Amino acid sequence: MKKRTLIQAAALAVLASTGGLALAQTAPFKIGLILPMSGQQATTGRQIEAAVKLWMAQNGDTVAGRKVQVVLKDDTSLPDVTRRLAQELVVNDKVDVLAGFGITPSAMAVAPIATQSKTPLVVMAAATSSITEASPYIVRTSFTLPQASVALADWAPKNGIKKVVSLVSDYGPGIDAEKFFKERLQLNGGQVTESLRVPLRNPDFAPFLQKVRDLKPDALFVFVPSGAGAAVMKQFFERGMDKAGIKLIATGDVTDDDQLNDMGDNALGVVTSHHYSAAHPSAANKKFVAEFQKANKNMRPNFMAMGGYDGMRVIYEALKKTGGKAGGDALLAGMKGQIFESPRGPVYIDAQTRDIVQNIYLRKVEKKDGQLWNVEFDVIKDVKDPGKTK
Ligand code: DHB
Repeated sequence: MKKRTLIQAAALAVLASTGGLALAQTAPFKIGLILPMSGQQATTGRQIEAAVKLWMAQNGDTVAGRKVQVVLKDDTSLPDVTRRLAQELVVNDKVDVLAGFGITPSAMAVAPIATQSKTPLVVMAAATSSITEASPYIVRTSFTLPQASVALADWAPKNGIKKVVSLVSDYGPGIDAEKFFKERLQLNGGQVTESLRVPLRNPDFAPFLQKVRDLKPDALFVFVPSGAGAAVMKQFFERGMDKAGIKLIATGDVTDDDQLNDMGDNALGVVTSHHYSAAHPSAANKKFVAEFQKANKNMRPNFMAMGGYDGMRVIYEALKKTGGKAGGDALLAGMKGQIFESPRGPVYIDAQTRDIVQNIYLRKVEKKDGQLWNVEFDVIKDVKDPGKTK
């Protein structure tokens, strides 16, 4: 009698555990998406949210039998808020993946939470080289400023630009852009004669541009984050810098597809380097841009949307590889080494660095059918982040 009860108890325990497992398998797979939906970086949030929605509309909301649920939170791009929201998403909502991160300080603030909770963190926007080194659970689908800057520093001296002044936002990505552009230009026989830094929040470019005018370089090299480009461009041309013989060159963050059409004809001819242009002439990109614009009142996707779209692909493919099972380490393994054709071109998630390897394009602003576009005219293929030490 006693033996029978024991067997029954054991059977019940097995049932309970498999039942529990079945429940876990069918519970939704949760992505905690933290973005700046308001404040200075709100366009980044708007672009990425739209791209995430488009990905799900195109690819469904079920992966390997799991319903995918996105929990969107607005961090207003304040890192303390990002950290609190990530903590809540991990502890209370039990999200399987953290994603988004509009600016570098936000991504950095959450890195320790990803490490402690073994939650994969997909950086869709922030672009300081060192972010991926802040946690072994970080994977990036955006780009790095060294990737973009080095390409431009190779192009410039071959095109008559030897003496350059740089102007960057004074934080992680700006400092990366400044350093990698300067070192590479020097290697190529050019020189950065002055490195200027403007505050990230509410920058006033006027005094800096006046200084550039006095210094009279061949060109001004600029990095400012997405959303701030139009203001720099406007002031540059209003002050007649171009007429004074100073060219404007920049990373593609400045001639941001989100704002480019509103920058006016002054922008024509500006050369930039970046990983994504809405004008990229592949079939995959034409489809992406058309469907994105159709779903978003004609809003043109920018490089932030691209990072969000590919970030979703990386998450979906990882979940397919685990057969629908979550668990940070298995998912992370599924993210590492992915190779695919993105609307931006071919990309690869380097298994060692967890950073994205991709083409960097040189582009020039041109008018086509009455609209301004970043038209690609050269490509450097399969660029690894030059900022990685290993
Ligand atoms: C970062 C933010 C941006 O908007 C951008 O264009 C590049 C980098 C960042 O904070 O890392």
